[in-house]
Amino acid sequence: MERLNCVILAAGIGKRMRSRIPKVAHPIMGRPMVRYVAQTAASIGAEKVIVVTGHGRDAVEACLEGAGVTFAHQAEQLGTAHALLATESFLSPGDVLVLYGDVPLIRPSTLAAFIEFFRRSEGICFMTTEVGDPSGYGRVIADDRGGIVDIVEDSDATGDVRKIKAINTGICMIRGDLLPLVRSVKPENSKGEYYLTDVCKTASAAGIKARAFLHPEAAEVLGINTRKDLLEAGLTVRNAILDRHMESGVTIMDRSAYIEADVAIGPDTVVYPSCYLMGRTEVGRDVFIGPHVVIRDSFIADGVSIEGFSSLDGARVAKGVRIGPFSRLRPNTVLAERVHIGNFVELKNTNMGEGSKANHLTYLGDADIGAGVNIGAGTITCNYDGKRKHRTAIGDGVFVGSNTELVAPVKVGKDAYIGAGSTITRDVPEGALAVTRARQKHIGGYARRKKCAE
Ligand code: UD1
Ligand code: CA
Repeated sequence: MERLNCVILAAGIGKRMRSRIPKVAHPIMGRPMVRYVAQTAASIGAEKVIVVTGHGRDAVEACLEGAGVTFAHQAEQLGTAHALLATESFLSPGDVLVLYGDVPLIRPSTLAAFIEFFRRSEGICFMTTEVGDPSGYGRVIADDRGGIVDIVEDSDATGDVRKIKAINTGICMIRGDLLPLVRSVKPENSKGEYYLTDVCKTASAAGIKARAFLHPEAAEVLGINTRKDLLEAGLTVRNAILDRHMESGVTIMDRSAYIEADVAIGPDTVVYPSCYLMGRTEVGRDVFIGPHVVIRDSFIADGVSIEGFSSLDGARVAKGVRIGPFSRLRPNTVLAERVHIGNFVELKNTNMGEGSKANHLTYLGDADIGAGVNIGAGTITCNYDGKRKHRTAIGDGVFVGSNTELVAPVKVGKDAYIGAGSTITRDVPEGALAVTRARQKHIGGYARRKKCAE
């Protein structure tokens, strides 16, 4: 098989997004647009993937961290031909497939068909499609045998050419040894840019016919230019993600579930309506995710149950844990097997040992809690002294009575008891009972005397 280079053009500004973020860095279902293209390029066996960056270079390059691509810098955006030539020193010998950073929905199967078509051509092909409203796109003037006579940019199109419905998607392919034809393109157009599409003319002058590959599904190959396009693409991807999970054995109760592109879910997990699974989240098998649950950047092991309206961010949850309804797990919460977290319980930067429970109305921050611990309703770790955060340590088997404050830094020894309503400011020895509340007094006959006074 011929060797394949893939170039992704991503140096443009994307004015119509009206954004301080470069267009191709905008996420679709949690994954930057340009990253979809890079992943697709890698999946079709490109030997080298070179991304042309310019505008917002750092942000675009950050989006592609770990994607295994090479960056070529285009300091000034002088046009698509100029952008392609910026990659010349990085190209391996072989064919060059040009993709666009803002055409993220292109499928590997479409590219495979395009490459096959290309291999039967004279060495230059453009992917085209037909649209009802061609405004904004380059119009493809073809001969009756699929050869391209010219591609006329929207800003240069006049008269009948404006009515042509066949448009250039931008995706094209060129044999490596024909790159000099791109170099001879001149910026002779209303924008004064070096247009890659003009290679059709320089090729024709050299006796080579560029070919059009007509792709019937316009929605897949049209670029994202506006926030509205971004939304439409997001909806398409969102449905495709749900389909993929259902195919692999996940039950999705309703299309309102919002599952981002980089989320993994095991089989027999059930996802109720209006859930948001975001970022780098991994969910095991046989997990129950009730309605309106929000999970971001978290790891959820097999058999976990998360009841409705719970929110998890940066948490690690082991097998068989039960959470919610209305629980909040904040970053660095680590729950061991069979922990129970109930309603209106908030945890942050806290480890909880096997089988421990905090079932109601509690804040546990910066705490290390052992196994088999019971945290009573209304427990608060007072972890902040106004300047710094301090840790609370609670040993295995401890019973914390309701309405307890633990003023950190403080340690509660193994198997200790804390009486309800206590404020603990000193370490509690192993096995002891700590109570700090005032003794209960009874004042006899109080009600009768009060009534007489009235
Ligand atoms: C381009 C095509 C047009 C096609 C349309 C499809 C040309 C001359 N025109 O027009 O025929 O119908 O795409 O969407 O190719 N870029 C760079 N460096 C540059 C200029 C552009 O990297 O100097 C990148 C942009 O980031 C973008 C892509 O190339 O990803 C397309 O550039 P853009 O200026 O948007 O071209 P269009 O006018 O849309
Ligand atoms: Ca464009």
